[in-house]
Amino acid sequence: MRHYTCLIDGEDVPAEGGRFAMCCPSDGKPFATVARGGKPEIDLAVAAARRALEHGAYGEMTATERGRVLSRMAEAVRDRHSALTELEAMDCGKPTRQAATDITCLARYLEFYSGAADKVHGPQIPFLKGWLVTGIREPHGVTAHIIPWNYPAQIFGRSVGAAIAMGNACVLKPAEDAGLSCLEVARMALDCGLPPGALNVVTGMGEEAGAALAAHPDIDFISFTGSPEVGTLIQKAAAERTIGCTLELGGKSAQLVFADADFDAALPIIANAIIQNAGQTCSAGSRVLIERSVFAAVTAELAERFRALRVGPHDRDLDLGPLINRQQEARIERFVELASDLELLAEGSCIPDLPVGGCYTKPRLYGPVPPDHPLAQEEVFGPILAAIPFECEAEAIAIANGTAYGLVAGVWTRDGARQLRVARRLEAGQVFVNGYGAGGGIELPFGGVKRSGHGREKGFEALYEFSQLKTIAINHG
Ligand code: NAI
Ligand code: MG
Repeated sequence: MRHYTCLIDGEDVPAEGGRFAMCCPSDGKPFATVARGGKPEIDLAVAAARRALEHGAYGEMTATERGRVLSRMAEAVRDRHSALTELEAMDCGKPTRQAATDITCLARYLEFYSGAADKVHGPQIPFLKGWLVTGIREPHGVTAHIIPWNYPAQIFGRSVGAAIAMGNACVLKPAEDAGLSCLEVARMALDCGLPPGALNVVTGMGEEAGAALAAHPDIDFISFTGSPEVGTLIQKAAAERTIGCTLELGGKSAQLVFADADFDAALPIIANAIIQNAGQTCSAGSRVLIERSVFAAVTAELAERFRALRVGPHDRDLDLGPLINRQQEARIERFVELASDLELLAEGSCIPDLPVGGCYTKPRLYGPVPPDHPLAQEEVFGPILAAIPFECEAEAIAIANGTAYGLVAGVWTRDGARQLRVARRLEAGQVFVNGYGAGGGIELPFGGVKRSGHGREKGFEALYEFSQLKTIAINHG
């Protein structure tokens, strides 16, 4: 069994709070331990990050040099692709193919931000006669990264990759349920030439290490992905010191299927968008809105797909793996209970020889679901798809926008004008037309509106999020 410590200033640091076990969601068995970091380790990590910026080699690096380090990290991740895949699959309970995609995405984030690091240009602004005005992009300083258990490798890549590209020194707090890939890659980064202190990782509980990090007086920015409840606490903590934060808090993302859509193209993508990572995905396509004239036909075909889905442990590499923990299982059971007044159109099946100790749930398709039903309003964070009929374009938009969330949306229609008209009216940070990529690509800015949060990660946009513009006005006469 591997025992992980915190990584602070390039050193292995055990925590005063001891350690706790990491269990594989497939069978509930412990396979590693991590340090139970808290305030003492957060204090050390923030101090190390500050030193790296102000007195260490890191603060002296040019953007090009930081880009080269990120490029070497991307290569190192590719070299260890299969080992990292196995770790991510076991840690998160993901089917192996899904974990492999996550590790590929991690390498791609590092590669994208390696190339982007020295391509961020400031403006030159026309001003009064005799003046030259320019703007330079500066890092925030010490950035805190509090990330969830559902996509640790990917979220590490998008968040830490962009922050380092801009020259911030990072303190990362992975989730208590999964995040070992972050510890591995942070250690690999040292061999790739990232100076000690530029990236520190403190594992621990949310209420201990997470809260201590968010409240630390010497951090300059917080990047948070997780629940709306904790997101609110993070924003309050940031407000105490008037620092900025990005919050990515999940959603109730809708795909709109019009009667003229290419169903053969749409259906596999609609099914996949809700079963990926057993539905534990912030951008899961958890609602499908279908034009009434084709509702019966489309749901019948979707039902067939759901019935073919199979659930099993991560190493069986089926359609769905286990849920992360008992808390998620209880959450999904509550929604199944709430759905007892609805028609269950189809469900998938679990393999017969499931390991005891894992939390498994079948993917389920319900419909027609009234738009005000909890299943159509609340984030389930599990493999449950709500099918909702609509009469016309205006009603489809109203239903799609009629939740508290706004992360991603999909529009399926062959009508070009409608594609654009609907995409513009949907309240979401990302809209896909005739496609749906849960979370979008590496290159695509991603984040929410409304209760899904604010700020953008991914793509070039993240580089602006992890920096601030300084305007310099020079009177040269
Ligand atoms: P959570 O929001 O509690 O955890 C996310 C991260 O925040 C973890 O690293 C955790 O340790 C940390 N954290 C927790 N409490 C904290 C605090 N008081 N101060 C600072 N950091 C803290 O999410 P949890 O409990 O794992 O899942 C609960 C629900 O949240 C899920 O059922 C799902 O609905 C939602 N969720 C959404 C995610 C997304 O991708 N948007 C990811 C994970 C969960
Ligand atoms: Mg929590």
